[in-house]
Amino acid sequence: MLMDVPVSLQRKCLSDTNPQWWLTPNLNNVCPEINFACCEPFQVISEKELTKFIDIINKNKSKAVQYSRSFTIRGIPEIDEILGCSNLEMILSKIVGIELKMHPIKVEHSHVNLQAKNEESAVDDWHLDYVPFVFVILLEKSGKETVGVNSGRLCTKDFGDFSMKPGEGILLQGSHVLHKAEMCEEGSRTSLVISLVPKNIELYDCTMVYKHRPTYDEQSIFYDFISYRMANIKEMGQNILSSYHSDENIKFWISRIRDECMIIENCLI
Ligand SMILES: [Fe+2]
Repeated sequence: MLMDVPVSLQRKCLSDTNPQWWLTPNLNNVCPEINFACCEPFQVISEKELTKFIDIINKNKSKAVQYSRSFTIRGIPEIDEILGCSNLEMILSKIVGIELKMHPIKVEHSHVNLQAKNEESAVDDWHLDYVPFVFVILLEKSGKETVGVNSGRLCTKDFGDFSMKPGEGILLQGSHVLHKAEMCEEGSRTSLVISLVPKNIELYDCTMVYKHRPTYDEQSIFYDFISYRMANIKEMGQNILSSYHSDENIKFWISRIRDECMIIENCLI
């Protein structure tokens, strides 16, 4: 069981720094529909539970794949099982104020980022995510504890830089907030990244996969992506049929179906 949200938890909104937030597209040309940027870090995993997570990751280290600068382990079944049986969705939905669910694409449920010891550059550079929401939990950090450059912080553009302790998590609308994870100087850093989408399909889910970008098991992720989008289209079609006397209803869902088709088409490029 994960620890609940503290009552006093601070949240930051896109409107805090951008009065025209709903008109500002991200790199995929998607405008945000939810006025949420991030929350401050809060303790979500107890010390005892943390040991369990670290043990599981240590057992799966041989599955780590190196991307540009960091190592990543995707889809650890034991981790997904713990998260799936937890109160995670309820906790995170409470923070944003809308219902969130773990990503419907299985391989996107969670991944672990590892900064190897003595790595000389940042874990990743400034970027936007290709999923709407991420919950980043710091599991382990070692090395110099200097505040400032290279202290293993999670940095955001416009919403602050966050020094996290192991067991703390931070929720971010990563598709619309530029962010990066700093490296830990002379140390290592392990974080668990959980992806989430809004439960309500009235809200646009900007998740994007690229069919021709061989990052990881290309065929299976593309199949899961298409299945997820087609399930959305089916539900949208049913929503039209359930109220086809309302032109507004038909127009709204037709435009949503168009969004889904466009995003499928874009991932074929
Ligand atoms: Fe990210």
